[in-house]
Amino acid sequence: MKALIASGGRGTRLRPLTHTQNKHLLPIANKPILHYAIEAALEAGITEIGIVHNADSNEVPNAIGNGKDWGVDITYISQDAPLGLAHVVKISEKFINNDDFIFYLGDNMVVGGIKRFIDEFEKNDCNCFLTLAKVKDPERFGVPEIKNGRIVRVEEKPTKPKSPYAVAGIYIYDQCIFEAVNKINLSQRGELEISDAHQYLIEKGYKIGYSEITGWWKDTGKPSDLLEANRLVLDNIQEHLEGEVDKSSTVAGKVVLERGTKVVNSVVRGPVMIGKNCSIENSYIGPFTSIGDNTIIRDSEVEYSIVLQDCKILNVKIRIEGSILGNDVEIVEATGKPHVHRFMIGDQSRIEVAW
Ligand code: DAU
Repeated sequence: MKALIASGGRGTRLRPLTHTQNKHLLPIANKPILHYAIEAALEAGITEIGIVHNADSNEVPNAIGNGKDWGVDITYISQDAPLGLAHVVKISEKFINNDDFIFYLGDNMVVGGIKRFIDEFEKNDCNCFLTLAKVKDPERFGVPEIKNGRIVRVEEKPTKPKSPYAVAGIYIYDQCIFEAVNKINLSQRGELEISDAHQYLIEKGYKIGYSEITGWWKDTGKPSDLLEANRLVLDNIQEHLEGEVDKSSTVAGKVVLERGTKVVNSVVRGPVMIGKNCSIENSYIGPFTSIGDNTIIRDSEVEYSIVLQDCKILNVKIRIEGSILGNDVEIVEATGKPHVHRFMIGDQSRIEVAW
């Protein structure tokens, strides 16, 4: 069994963060999203991993490397343009080379691992195995229609979903999928849709197994999904305090403070993860917040947020909540006259101000 991980696409719904960074490298609990996919494959005993990335950028190969830190072997496959998930599979046929494989969308996160799905795929002699998750908004996803315990149809982003399930981005295939991805046509939005490949397999009578993901699963396509995935991962961290906490501070609940970080006269209420060499002074850091390395927070309050590296949050009078700050972002008190809000914001940013 091999693993194929998709890390291409444009990440348009996560702009402006994705103007400067591939979305799969954005951190959840201070670790790139893509690491979770690699670790899920490894945990299932898979050591041969193919990662599909955008041909016009080496950002993913440069950041992830050849896999030896994890003890896996990573092969990179470049995709000329984001022509759809079935296209990702199509260009990976040589890498897969007659093996069965798990296809894992690099922006998906699942708790509980993927081994149980591989076991079911093998035990039931399936050609294709889909994982399903109950969601409030199935119209955002591939949606199965299930009759008498069998998937009879899969539709991509239907206006009238036939079930409350999303087909999650964790699929297992044998060689039949290559027949499907080579037979289907481009969809109206100009992509080779993985749901059309699944529909092809259903129509040809191939054996499709499925299982519901009963724990949590997230597609981190939108900012609110990133915050929610961050919350869910932080909820399961182990406390680990390498940084320094002075006597006038309170650090409560599950908190990770990495090396070189100082907490002075502040309250940190976990679950919270604070990276290396940060300074937290006269501040409150509330639950479900992760803060990247070298960030300074002074006289401010931050809760349920993701702050990347090298940020400064200084003298901000209103609590920052439900926010995502990219690298090297500053939110500081306006000084001097006139006493105004002063913004220096890149393309497609979003600011919500409360008075
Ligand atoms: O998350 C599950 C959903 O993923 C499924 O329910 C849908 O059936 C499936 O089409 C897909 O929908 P999305 O709209 O979420 O797909 P998205 O374009 O966001 O791409 C998913 C991942 O694959 C993401 O990590 C980017 C990567 N990708 C995407 C395309 C279109 C590629 O590597 N190459 C591509 O050409």
